[in-house]
Amino acid sequence: MQIGVFCPIGNNGWLISKNSPQYKPSFELNKTVVQSAEQYGFDFALSMIKLRGFGGETEFWDYNLESFTLMSGLAAVTSKIKIYATAATLAMPPAIVARMAATIDSISNGRFGLNVVTGWQRPEYSQMGMWPGDEYFGKRYEYLAEYVQVLKELWATGHSNFKGEFFKMEDCQVKPQPSKDLKIICAGQSDAGLAFSAQYADYNFVFGKGLNTPTAFAPINDRLKQHTDQTGRDVSTLALFMVIVDETDEKAMAKWQSYNDGADMEAIHWLQDQGDKDKFSGKETNIRHMASSVSPVNINMGTLVGSYAKVAAMLDEIAEVKGTDGILLTFDDFVEGVRDFGEKVQPLMKSRVNADSSVPSLIKTIAMEKSA
Ligand SMILES: Cc1cc2nc3c(=O)[nH]c(=O)nc-3n(C[C@H](O)[C@H](O)[C@H](O)COP(=O)(O)O)c2cc1C
Repeated sequence: MQIGVFCPIGNNGWLISKNSPQYKPSFELNKTVVQSAEQYGFDFALSMIKLRGFGGETEFWDYNLESFTLMSGLAAVTSKIKIYATAATLAMPPAIVARMAATIDSISNGRFGLNVVTGWQRPEYSQMGMWPGDEYFGKRYEYLAEYVQVLKELWATGHSNFKGEFFKMEDCQVKPQPSKDLKIICAGQSDAGLAFSAQYADYNFVFGKGLNTPTAFAPINDRLKQHTDQTGRDVSTLALFMVIVDETDEKAMAKWQSYNDGADMEAIHWLQDQGDKDKFSGKETNIRHMASSVSPVNINMGTLVGSYAKVAAMLDEIAEVKGTDGILLTFDDFVEGVRDFGEKVQPLMKSRVNADSSVPSLIKTIAMEKSA
């Protein structure tokens, strides 16, 4: 099973709290996190694109780096881990994204892949005069389908004459082409989103659900399967979870409680207000999930809290959910979190016995040098 790290590209990661670690994003922080993840055998690193934060006392996500430029830098300072950037497809024309992807494919020696998002937060785009109107909520996967067809044509052939409702290409040329087929990820949770992934993506991100209920997301896998049964394509899911660990369950739970106690309600209310804007996409959308009042402090991300052993066992349960190919992890503290995962959690996981971690050999080498 693959393990990925969701890079802390925005301030304070995924905790909208005054009591969680407070930090701004930087290349140095992300370099430390991703190089460490690579050492511990993580399979991939991915960053999101966020163009507008939620405000509040913590200025949540008001500070965000840009995804492609960050991942391009990270590609240059890593050698094994796969690198994914996210394209804000409303704001970035496909021919530009195709070229940026080919560039990072070159920098990373074929380790690059792409997450495509339609956009769900109007102010991210309206602030630049780029929001097409609220009807877009209902059409966004038709838009994305054309977008990805253009991308795939450009990558496969170096040119495109695609003519659709949203994109009209005229002998568009993008060379060099990437060295290999680039993987595409989407995070659709609505029926239209899942249908899109079944037809065009290689992986679909799904939101893990609940506190210490590792398999609660399984019904989304089943819904995706209904769509892939129709397209006949092999598309698996990558489940998003936050991991909060400590020596004992009680210590880990005390941290989680403290983050909840410090919830930045002003920022959360802003998110919840955004959650009401989409009247076009049906009930099962990610934004409604993120804005729900159950666990807004970490945008209702599935949360695994406990001792190293307890969290390892829950991660193994996720690996057993049919249709799941990997887990995308966030942490309360990314530097400590990746290290604790690599040293204390992963060694206890049955689903990671083959993880290609370079750390044991590194530790052995240092130990041998010391004893010599
Ligand atoms: C792992 C993951 C990464 C995501 N990355 C982004 C992102 O970079 N930018 C963004 O605007 N939305 C991002 N989203 C949110 C989804 O793209 C968004 O909610 C989308 O609307 C989902 O579509 P749905 O309405 O079909 O559920 C992400 C969601 C997940 C689970």
